[in-house]
Amino acid sequence: MELHDIQRGVLSPRPSPYAATYLLFRIDDRAHGRELMRRIAAAVTSAADTLSPLGETWVSVAVTYHGLRALGVPQPALDTMAWEFRQGMAARATALSDTAGSAPEHWEAPLGSPDVHVVLVALAPDEPTLEAAIDRARPAYEGLSGVTAIWRQNCHALPTETEPFGYRDGISHPAVDGSGIPGSNPLEKPLAAGEFVLGYPDELGGVQTTTPDVLGRNGSYVAFRKLHQDVAGFRRFLRANSAGPDEEEQLAAKLMGRWRSGAPLALCPVHDDPEVGADRDRNNAFLFRQDDPDGFATPGGSHIRRANPRDSAVAGEPRLHRMIRRGTAYGPLLPEGVLDDDGADRGLIFAFVGAHLGRQFEFAQSQWMNDGVFFGGDDARDPIVGSGEGLSDYTIPRRPVRRRLPAVPRFVTTRGGEYAFMPSLSALRWLGELTD
Ligand code: HEM
Repeated sequence: MELHDIQRGVLSPRPSPYAATYLLFRIDDRAHGRELMRRIAAAVTSAADTLSPLGETWVSVAVTYHGLRALGVPQPALDTMAWEFRQGMAARATALSDTAGSAPEHWEAPLGSPDVHVVLVALAPDEPTLEAAIDRARPAYEGLSGVTAIWRQNCHALPTETEPFGYRDGISHPAVDGSGIPGSNPLEKPLAAGEFVLGYPDELGGVQTTTPDVLGRNGSYVAFRKLHQDVAGFRRFLRANSAGPDEEEQLAAKLMGRWRSGAPLALCPVHDDPEVGADRDRNNAFLFRQDDPDGFATPGGSHIRRANPRDSAVAGEPRLHRMIRRGTAYGPLLPEGVLDDDGADRGLIFAFVGAHLGRQFEFAQSQWMNDGVFFGGDDARDPIVGSGEGLSDYTIPRRPVRRRLPAVPRFVTTRGGEYAFMPSLSALRWLGELTD
């Protein structure tokens, strides 16, 4: 892979712990937008740059369809990009189950609007280093009156290294063939580079290209979503369906497929083992089919088994729906034990990175999270992120009889999001040099 040309944020697992800031920009003046691209090309580190003095601090940039138009990319070139990308996330609301309270008309402005053109993400191991990364990127947009910052979202590492529901996050990521960056599961064969980066053969042997080639090559699509989490509601659900704190933890594990420590049920089916949870060599080293085909340890409907069925017998080929994820928490921690909502906005900025918005992100979101057909025919949804609205059941396989939890509420609400494209470093320069 041409690592020197690929943005570092595509392939490198994020540091842990970490802090991040999302900045969105609108381009009102094409020439200033192009100047932004030129300058930002100098601030973005490449995937080959792992030994840079900046260490685990980096800036990534992505541009939406409306952003590429604002930069003056010719329409015939835009037409060679992915169909879903050209539609934008808000237009895909029905397919993504962004309905009721998650519908685009309730999204936080300007998310989902044609004003979102450029997405800048700065990521660092801690807040002071993050501020330094933002300072380093600031000259790229300062003084450009035709480029306006329209939204900022600070994200942070919770002291517990968990997402707001309390689970360790950022564990499972795929190995990408030719990247030299190892995956987290030694039992998973590396995925073809073209699954994540344009211009390389994918698992089906196809190569995604654009015309001109420089626009797409070594770039990736991203989907970012601001997902509000009803932490108090989630805790009340656990409490209402358990006989005590131990059972609450067991139920939490059965919903996720992992104990909150990160230890997978596949390896620790009866008791939590925080040492396994924290051990990067062990916490993702498992498959499902041989040891647990019927989901007695890891329920087929649990979040991680839906999101990545690994070698489970499901309709379709799981390797075609893998994704690189970057989740970063936002908002204040809800103090331990509190069961009433305090009204604060907290959740996850979820980010998908891949070469196939449709068959990776949209497929996982619509078929695996929000449809039961792949997992046995009923209309049950993902218990953590599904759009069940209290209409969907959750089944925990057990002997002698399975446990069925009726009416799982919706715990996660979409507050907005966008599809964007993370160009290669040479594409950023190409965008900067466009002339009318
Ligand atoms: C607020 C919403 C969400 C929460 C709290 C959440 C939480 C988690 C946690 C705790 C894990 C296990 C740790 C890990 O493997 O890194 C996980 C794994 C995963 N999640 Fe989510 N997630 C959310 C939304 C989503 C969405 C929207 C998608 C995709 C459409 C998704 C896809 C995945 C995938 C692919 C994995 C890895 C599964 C594996 O390889 O075992 N998640 N998530």
